[in-house]
Amino acid sequence: MKYKNPSLSVQERVNDLLPRMTLEEKIAQCIQIYIPPDHPGEIVDRIRAVGLGSRILGAVSLAGNVSQRTAGIEDLNEIQRIAMNEFHLGIPVIHGLDVIHGLRVIFPIPLGLAATFDPDAIQKTYNIAAEECFRLGIHWSFAPMLDIAHDPRWGRIVEGFGEDPYLGAKMAVAAIKGFQGELDENGYQSQDHILACAKHYIGYGGAEGGRDYNTAEITDHTLRNIYLPPFRAAVQAGVGSVMSAFEDLNGEPASGSRYLLTDLLKEELGFNGFVISDWASVAELIHHRVAANEREAAQIAFDAGVDMEMVTECYAHHLADLVMEGIISMERLDDAVRRILTQKFQLGLFDHPYADVQKSLEIRDLSAYHAAAREVTARSMVLLKNNGILPLPGDVRRIALIGPFVNQRRALLGTWVNDVLADEPQTLEEALRASCPDVEILTAPNGLMDEMIMIAAEADIVLLALGESNARNGEYNSIASLNLPAGQEELAQAVAGMGKPLAVLVFAGRPVTLTRILPHADALLYAWHPGSMGAAAAVDILLGKVNPAGKLPVTFPRGEGQIPVHYNHKSTGRDHPRYLDMPVEPLFPFGFGLSYTRFEITDLVVEPVEIPAGASVNVSVTVTNTGECKGEEVVQCYLQDCVSRRTRPERELKGFQRIALQPGESRRVEFTIGPDEMSYYGAGGSWVLEPGAFKVWVGNDCKASLEGSFLLK
Ligand code: BGC
Repeated sequence: MKYKNPSLSVQERVNDLLPRMTLEEKIAQCIQIYIPPDHPGEIVDRIRAVGLGSRILGAVSLAGNVSQRTAGIEDLNEIQRIAMNEFHLGIPVIHGLDVIHGLRVIFPIPLGLAATFDPDAIQKTYNIAAEECFRLGIHWSFAPMLDIAHDPRWGRIVEGFGEDPYLGAKMAVAAIKGFQGELDENGYQSQDHILACAKHYIGYGGAEGGRDYNTAEITDHTLRNIYLPPFRAAVQAGVGSVMSAFEDLNGEPASGSRYLLTDLLKEELGFNGFVISDWASVAELIHHRVAANEREAAQIAFDAGVDMEMVTECYAHHLADLVMEGIISMERLDDAVRRILTQKFQLGLFDHPYADVQKSLEIRDLSAYHAAAREVTARSMVLLKNNGILPLPGDVRRIALIGPFVNQRRALLGTWVNDVLADEPQTLEEALRASCPDVEILTAPNGLMDEMIMIAAEADIVLLALGESNARNGEYNSIASLNLPAGQEELAQAVAGMGKPLAVLVFAGRPVTLTRILPHADALLYAWHPGSMGAAAAVDILLGKVNPAGKLPVTFPRGEGQIPVHYNHKSTGRDHPRYLDMPVEPLFPFGFGLSYTRFEITDLVVEPVEIPAGASVNVSVTVTNTGECKGEEVVQCYLQDCVSRRTRPERELKGFQRIALQPGESRRVEFTIGPDEMSYYGAGGSWVLEPGAFKVWVGNDCKASLEGSFLLK
């Protein structure tokens, strides 16, 4: 049987296998079931009868913040043995799990990862996650999440890469390469890699009011120019699966939209992988009231382009009849099965179906992963204010370490974490004591506010650790007020009243309102929910062992009244929009972040200044570290298409580089602005490159003022 021959190409093997399958066996490949680890019997019967496409290993939907343990490696291997040996065709099951920012070693939440502005670091992060998964028998992660989000009230802003399509696209490619690696000449992935899933396609982050699962109304122009680029980049990078979103977008649930899934994703963008629904989003077509029953839901979703159904059983119960009655064509079914089998072959599942128990033990020594995590985590933190009190001076003798985040563990990990890890991370207090054995660290033994204030009075410097719980982020966890939980602003104010230098750390999964805290703080470090090595990485920054260089991947509003607020807004017909009761400018702009040193960006040159269609320009600047210590700067290049047929943002990020410079060192940094950067989706959704003038700015956030221009003839 040719399909069992690993020396043939993936396509040859799929071509050989598909015609051998019965209708029921084909449909079985389009099903992903959820069976709790303690009920294995049901899966076994199904596999023996017709095989099984996939199993989701999560415990429950909304799994991000509840206890869950996944099946052990032996159980997974046992399922696979039945699929390979007792089902006559021997088609392996693909095991999927939400591994969103690490499995055993937790990296910062994805929003924090985006703040590194460092695709290489992201690739390495997801590569580590892939290696851990692969060795534990998990073949597929439902990540990266590529939803652009403009509303921090939405709990799932934590899982994405922020507000910007260009940054989102770069991070998408890095994450996918990290998970999937490269294909060899026969179309196979190398071992230690897994299948990625670009989600939630599409527009899920546009939920009205930031309320999860809510309706989104996004014009096709905005959908294509703002929400689509990360998915487009993911497809170009070869992502093997895409998840269809829950929400109703422009009058059609995304999981039932032929336009979105087939016309745009598969045909226009050329996506060759398979589409999986979100958890129950096929059956939820009934809740959206576009399907009257499960049979209609199956028909609409399958016809729209959802190849595999997650958890609900509309396909299992109705697809066979729909095909036999000619309502769903056999070509469409074959197309779905071909897509799924292709990924299984590509992953090497037919040839190496079992996790190697011996190799899985090797990842018990996590020290290399922890070291990598500590580095990436420090790269993700953003210094938002510093009057010079950080890094902590070498002669500091008494530090007051206070606030609700001094002794947190689980909350530092953020959402989407296996609960088994809850006790593992070091607390901030432990990390600080470990790094400063000679400094007296005063803490509030009972965690009482009055204790904290008294301690602050006795210290040379106060470190105040604030934040929100992981349980306030993630799926179905939207909030109406962006303020930190009750009492924290008051605490900051009271502590500041003691007149001691005050450095504030904020641990959060979204932008929170800092407007009333900032005036009291001498320094403020935004640490996100930083993961397993979060406390150690924060201490590295406080002590100046690492010079912070993270930048905001999302605009920080002054308060929720400014939402939605994002830097890449359009020009208006009249004066700049305003509020009468609040500045219209956000508290911190996109791309903002400070360093312990200073960088000057000068001498912008654009070459050539006139180009024909299809050519590129080179934009270069000199970046100089004018401060006293070495550091890194994220140099950012923004573009404006001065006159266009359809309205365009005032400026858009089109290049960034994170570079390291010694004190006094200068370097020329170059960006290439090519046809892709100059083009956009214009009338009728077509990708256009229009002649005319362009402006460029280079600087260290989206307010960059160093300006140049060129003309596209
Ligand atoms: C979430 C997805 C997740 C899936 C599987 C859904 O509720 O929206 O992001 O991948 O569950 O756990």
